[in-house]
Amino acid sequence: MTTLLHLDASPRRTSISRELSAAFAAAWGAEHPDATYIHRDLAADPIPFIDEGWTELCDRVLAHGATDLDRLGELVNSPAQQRAWAIVEPLLAELRAADIVLIGTPMYNYSIPAGLKAWLDQITFPRMSLAPTRFVVATACGGAYSPGTPKAIYDYQERYLRDFFAGHFAVEDTVFVHSELVNSRQDPALAQLRDKHDASHAAALATARTLGKEY
Ligand SMILES: Cc1cc2nc3c(=O)[nH]c(=O)nc-3n(C[C@H](O)[C@H](O)[C@H](O)COP(=O)(O)O)c2cc1C
Repeated sequence: MTTLLHLDASPRRTSISRELSAAFAAAWGAEHPDATYIHRDLAADPIPFIDEGWTELCDRVLAHGATDLDRLGELVNSPAQQRAWAIVEPLLAELRAADIVLIGTPMYNYSIPAGLKAWLDQITFPRMSLAPTRFVVATACGGAYSPGTPKAIYDYQERYLRDFFAGHFAVEDTVFVHSELVNSRQDPALAQLRDKHDASHAAALATARTLGKEY
């Protein structure tokens, strides 16, 4: 059965990236009424940063040469490792079960919020591999980073996530949907950019809905 794992990283309840990811999820759900849908809110229900127990367990997995992810729990040999395993094991299981991973995230400091980075660190576990999985990332940013814009070179968000999924999971075709120039909604000094934001946002919403239908 098809499974969609939907992550949201914005601390805002009313959030542009949440609006985009929800549009994808709603369109996808309408096409797949019997499929499994899992939503994980990385802001409301934050995932802990990896700790010493996680690194000890990671070292044990590497030293043991274990390859069967389902049996890694057998290597746990301290309370700290047990606590770490209790956090990471469900995250790995849910990711491995997903056919599609949908991520709604703001751009923070040209990159991703710490809550999303915490998830990435947790699931970057030794021997972790994925069955064919598609990634869709819906983002919102205050400025503009499209190719050809003056700040395009500062976009470490798309570049980082694209390279991460390619490097770790051999997924080369992560799809990005961006709503840009969001700051023009709040900042009167950017009012002249509001039309461009409206166009960017409308296009991003339409693309999110179309992708949701197609995936
Ligand atoms: C801590 C923080 C850092 C931000 N860094 C950037 C940035 O580097 N570039 C940018 O274009 N916008 C930046 N923004 C603006 C957000 O990307 C923008 O408000 C976006 O709409 C947030 O997404 P959301 O509506 O889903 O929360 C930042 C906002 C915050 C709160």
